[in-house]
Amino acid sequence: MISRVEETKQPGRIRRLSEDLVNKIAAGEVVERPASIVKELVENALDAGARQVVVEIEHGGKSLIRVRDDGCGMSRDDAVLSVERHATSKIAALDDLERVATHGFRGEALPSIASVCALVLTTREEGATAGTEVAVHHGRMAHVRDTAHPRGTTVEARDLFNAVPARRKFLRADATEAAHVAEAITVAATSRPETGFRMTSGGRIVVEAPATRDLAQRLYQLFGDDVLMDLAPLEWSGASLRVSGFVSRPDRPAPARPAIRLFVNGRPVRDRMLAKAATDAYRGAGVSNPRPVAFVFIEIPPHAVDVNVHPAKTEVRFADMRAVFGGVERAVMQALSATSRETAPAPFVESVAEPGTPYRVTPGWAQRDIVFAGGAPGDGEGSAVSRGVSFSASDAEPELASDDRIVVLGQHRHTYIVASDGEDLLLVDQHTAHERVRFETLVAQFETRSVETQRLIEPLVLTLPPRLRPLVKEHAAALSDLGFETEDFGGAELRLGSVPALLRGLDPRAAVEGILRDLLDRDADGWIVPPGRERLAATIACHSAVRAGQVLAREAMAAIVRDLARTRHPTMCPHGRPAIVRIPKDDVSRWFGRKGWRRE
Ligand SMILES: Nc1ncnc2c1ncn2[C@@H]1O[C@H](COP(=O)(O)OP(=O)(O)OP(=O)(O)O)[C@@H](O)[C@H]1O
Ligand SMILES: [Mg+2]
Repeated sequence: MISRVEETKQPGRIRRLSEDLVNKIAAGEVVERPASIVKELVENALDAGARQVVVEIEHGGKSLIRVRDDGCGMSRDDAVLSVERHATSKIAALDDLERVATHGFRGEALPSIASVCALVLTTREEGATAGTEVAVHHGRMAHVRDTAHPRGTTVEARDLFNAVPARRKFLRADATEAAHVAEAITVAATSRPETGFRMTSGGRIVVEAPATRDLAQRLYQLFGDDVLMDLAPLEWSGASLRVSGFVSRPDRPAPARPAIRLFVNGRPVRDRMLAKAATDAYRGAGVSNPRPVAFVFIEIPPHAVDVNVHPAKTEVRFADMRAVFGGVERAVMQALSATSRETAPAPFVESVAEPGTPYRVTPGWAQRDIVFAGGAPGDGEGSAVSRGVSFSASDAEPELASDDRIVVLGQHRHTYIVASDGEDLLLVDQHTAHERVRFETLVAQFETRSVETQRLIEPLVLTLPPRLRPLVKEHAAALSDLGFETEDFGGAELRLGSVPALLRGLDPRAAVEGILRDLLDRDADGWIVPPGRERLAATIACHSAVRAGQVLAREAMAAIVRDLARTRHPTMCPHGRPAIVRIPKDDVSRWFGRKGWRRE
C-alpha cells in the first residue's frame, strides 16, 4: 500500500518547513496575544521558584512585556538553550510527564515567544559572577553577552507580532489586551499566594499582591473584601482527591456571569464538566440560574491526570472524570449546606435573592406542625390562623403571637397550596413540590436497596415507537435499579413485569412511554440532576406526582407541605422549577398601606 502511494506521488511537492516557520506555527498555539505570553513567562518564573514576580506592560503588552523574577536563574549555557525549541529542564523522559509538578514541560514557550517579537532574556543564577543576556529577534539569535543582573531572570518581549501582521490584526484595543493580561496575573496569583505579584500597565499599578500565607488573604488582595465576604470555604477530601478553595454564598448577590476558576494540582485549567459540577451543586441547593464565583483547587495524584492534552496546557484529562466530578459537586454542596446552617435566621423561610424569586427553606421547617385553617380535625371553631391575633384600631398590623405551626389555608386555582407560617405567606406549587418529594423518596429507596415495586398481574407487552426503543437498552441498568422489570425483545416489543410502586394507579403503558419520551426530549438544560439513574428517578417522580389543576383534599395538601419540608432541597423540583415561594409579611403590609408593626 505505502510503496504504491510513493510510486505514484509526484516528487518535490512536500517540503520541510524551516525551523523558523515551525516555531511561528507552534507559537500560534501558545502565543495568541499578550496575555498568553505573560502567562507563559509568569509560569516559568513560578517554576523557577520565584518569591516575587513583577510584570510590566505598555500598550496592552503590544509594544512591551517585561516579566522579572527572583527565581533560580540560568547559567549562560542554559540561557542560550532555553530559547531553542524542545529544550526544557523540566522533563527528560516520557515517564516524567506522569509526575510533572511544574507548569511547563514542553520546552516551547520561550522559542515560540521569541519567534513573534524582539526578545531579550537576562538572567543570573546563584553564585555566578556574571549574568547573561540573550537576544532573539523574530526567531533569529541576535546576540549573547555577559551582563549584570540580580539572581533571577528578566524576559522582555517588544513589538509583538510586528513580523506577523496576520496575527497583529487580531489584537484588540490596548485596554482590552491589558485586561486579559491582568486576568492572567490574577489567575497565577490565585494559584500561588506565597509568591508576591505586581503588575503595572503604562506605569500604573494594576495588581499589587505581596506574598502571603493563605488563599483568603490573596483573594482579599486581588478582589477586595466585598468578594471575600461573599465567599464560603470549600474543603472536602475523598479517596485520592482533595477539593478546597472558596465558593460564593448563594444568599449573596450573584455576578452577571459565573466565574469559576479551577486549579488542578496548582495548574489553572478550564473544564466545562467541572464547572457544571459546581453549578449543579448550586441548583441542588435550590438556587435557580446559579452564577457562582468559585475558586476550586483540586489535588489529585499526578498519575491520575494527564496534563499533556492542550497546547497552552489549559486543559487536562482525568483518568476518572466521574470521581472528580462527584468530588467537586459534593465539595460545593457541603460548603453550601454549611452556609445555610450558619445563616439560618429565626423565620424558617429565608430569602436567597430578590423578592419574588424562589426561597430557600431552612431545616427547622421539618419540625413544625402543619395544620389547616378552619375545620381541620380537632381544630374546633377558631381557625388556627386567627389564633393569637389581636385586633387594633391603628394603621399598623397587629403582631401575631409566635406560632410554630404552618397553616395550610387552601388551594389556589387547583395548582398552588396557600399556607402561612404565622409570619409570611407561602405559595407551594403542588406539582413541583410533590415531584421533589417523590424524587427524593425514590432515590432514598434506591440508596437503601428498598425500591418498592408493583408487580403487574400479567406481564405487559408494549410496542414502543421506534425513536424510544434504543432508550430501553441505554437505560437498562437504571430502569431495573428503580423498579422496572423489563425484557427487551430486541425489536419493537418490550415486556414489562413490574413498575416502581410510585406509579401505582397509573396506566403502566402510558407511564413507561411518557417517561422514556421525557428522557429523550427534555434537553440537557431542563434538569438540575445528573443524567443516569437520578434523571430517570426525576422523570418517574414527575409522572407520578399530582398535577397542576388537580383538586386536592386538605390532608393531601398538608402531606405535601409536610413531606416537602423533610426533603433535602425543598425549594426546587428536579427540573429546577421553584416548589415554594415566600411572600414576606412586610410586602403584604406594604400592599395594604400598613407601615409599621406595633405590639398590642
Ligand atoms: N524565568 C526563568 N527562570 C529560570 N529558568 C527559566 C525561566 N524561564 C525559562 N527557564 C528555563 O528555560 C527552559 C525553557 O523554557 P520554556 O518556557 O520555553 O519551556 P518549559 O517551561 O520547559 O516548557 P513549556 O513550553 O511547557 O513552558 C525551562 O525549562 C527552564 O529551564
Ligand atoms: Mg515554560
